Amino acid sequence: MTLRAHILGAAAGGGLPQWNCGCDNCNLARGGKIPSQTQSSLAVTAEGNEWAILNASPDIRQQLAQTACLFPSGPRQLPLRSVLLTNGDIDHIAGLLTLREMQPFRLFATAGIHEVLVQNPIFAALDPSVVRREAIAMDTPFELVKGLTATLFAVPGKVPLYMEGDEVQTDLIGDQTVGVEMSTASGRVFYIPGCAILNDALRARLERADLVFFDGTLWRDDEMIRAGLGQKTGKRMGHMSMDGADGSIAAFADLNIGQKVYVHMNNTNPVLRPESTERATAQAAGWVIGQDGMEITL
Ligand code: MLT
Ligand code: MN
Ligand code: ZN
Repeated sequence: MTLRAHILGAAAGGGLPQWNCGCDNCNLARGGKIPSQTQSSLAVTAEGNEWAILNASPDIRQQLAQTACLFPSGPRQLPLRSVLLTNGDIDHIAGLLTLREMQPFRLFATAGIHEVLVQNPIFAALDPSVVRREAIAMDTPFELVKGLTATLFAVPGKVPLYMEGDEVQTDLIGDQTVGVEMSTASGRVFYIPGCAILNDALRARLERADLVFFDGTLWRDDEMIRAGLGQKTGKRMGHMSMDGADGSIAAFADLNIGQKVYVHMNNTNPVLRPESTERATAQAAGWVIGQDGMEITL
């Protein structure tokens, strides 16, 4: 059984360009000088006729309109069978509202992430008798879609931005932020669009993976502050950056992984510019910079 992974959206929350952002990258994207990217989502299949979507981005309508493998095959027949959420952030759940047209699919998430949906009554638009909400226990394999077994595991992260209290733990280990391991006969694939720290447990898990999609939010931790776009570091947002001694390029350097692909990139990230030195640095370290429409088959 092969595995196909299709990047529906390679950008972090806001996308590229972000509606209110006048940073260099956003302006280049508006001018068509660099490719625009939609918000964070990955489609996967083992057999090609049944697909799962990992995270429902606010751009899902556009993503589904431009992705032929997900087009309806009949009046209400769809290859999409299930949606899995890795956290409750807006960029990963708002697209559920687009999927509300009485179309059956299975909605997988941890109990904690389902609870976030329950607390937001607008998600009742997904009638539970049509869209089955299934709570997935951590470290317990389940069938994500035909031929594809997935396992959720805790990843250091934080609660969704809109649920933050006065005190925020940014490397919380719980069921609010998870990674996904998918396995088929052709290999082990990981999807981790948000990760605060690559701890030892995570390193051990990722070792010898065939393909890893990983959090590429920022190039450097203070990138948004330096660009005059906000007060927050990447760490405060629950994301490890690419560069630096505690960045993901260094953290992955001694791991034995077949293919490493950055996803969930913030619009300020210089790797989104094809000619940037930062992109060349990441590529020289063995990373692929994900982009909308990129498909990887194992
Ligand atoms: C994040 O990944 O940090 C969130 O998507 C931020 C947000 O909700 O905009
Ligand atoms: Mn995000
Ligand atoms: Zn921008």
